[in-house]
Amino acid sequence: MKITIVGAGNVGATAARMVVDRALANDVILIDIVEGVPQGKSLDIYQSAAIQYSDTKIYGTNTYEITSNSDIAVITAGIPRKPGMSRDDLISVNAEIVINSTKEIVKYSPNCIIIVVTNPLDAMTYASFVNSHFPRNRVIGMSGVLDTARLKAFICMELNVSIENINAIVLGGHGDSMVPLIRYSTVAGIPITDLLPKHRIDALMERTRNGGAEIVKLLGNGSAYFAPAASITQMVDAIVNNRHRIMSCCVYLQGEFGHSDICLGVPIKIGIQGMEEIIPIKLTPEEQKAFDKSADDVRSMIQKLQ
Ligand code: NAI
Ligand code: 2OP
Repeated sequence: MKITIVGAGNVGATAARMVVDRALANDVILIDIVEGVPQGKSLDIYQSAAIQYSDTKIYGTNTYEITSNSDIAVITAGIPRKPGMSRDDLISVNAEIVINSTKEIVKYSPNCIIIVVTNPLDAMTYASFVNSHFPRNRVIGMSGVLDTARLKAFICMELNVSIENINAIVLGGHGDSMVPLIRYSTVAGIPITDLLPKHRIDALMERTRNGGAEIVKLLGNGSAYFAPAASITQMVDAIVNNRHRIMSCCVYLQGEFGHSDICLGVPIKIGIQGMEEIIPIKLTPEEQKAFDKSADDVRSMIQKLQ
């Protein structure tokens, strides 16, 4: 397995380190436009692998040649949010970066699976998918894994139970109108509606929707990267170990959940081929309405791209 990570910033470098620590690949290539940074961070991670007893090799570069024949390419290149900025404010700068990165990845690794991370996530996944000319199972956006992790963490904090007991899922776009599904949020199989009053559940859902902004505000400069990197690593693990794992990811829809020609977060099964299938869950009218609203927001973002 060979994994390329484009963007050696907070998210890219942290994901590279997690992938190396867990020895999920033979080779990791970290690429960035800034000279020295991917090389320096790779050398640092290579040396930390000596302590972790990981045999994964990591190399930094500013050009794509050594990325050739990667199995997975993760795009984290771009600019992150600053306080007061929404993910959508990033669109014009990041679209160009994502499209160029996609073209380079495809040129050198025509059979890889692309994981898109750059924001605004759903529009960037769409841009990468369209410009890659890959089948839709090989272009997957990372958002639902992170948003779901946030919801699970907040339920965990509220009830003071083991994280292992918690199941949850967040669908829709990676924006303020994302759709945390209360009906599928359980603790040891018990619906959270049996454990918490409505006003507390509403507060947890709202905190999940604002999970990224809460961290942007606290950091004052840049956005979250530990949980995003862990989310990327979980997706990489599902692919390289062919786990057939069901997780919420952003993929190109062709009629599923009532939407077409759009990339949105839905439950998918993920393995060595990338997306194996979209899991068709039946939404209640209220959930579908929220999902449609999120789709409208993403569609207007995609229109800005076009
Ligand atoms: P960062 O600023 O720390 O790193 C971005 C890196 O991209 C920088 O090192 C920069 O030099 C590099 N870069 C810029 N243009 C490039 C190009 N053409 N080729 C290669 N590298 C290039 O930002 P951070 O925190 O790592 O975030 C990266 C992106 O991921 C942002 O767009 C952020 O909003 C997004 N993000 C998405 C999440 C999600 O859930 N989908 C979660 C967290 C961040
Ligand atoms: C996050 O949710 C900024 O999308 C990034 O933390």
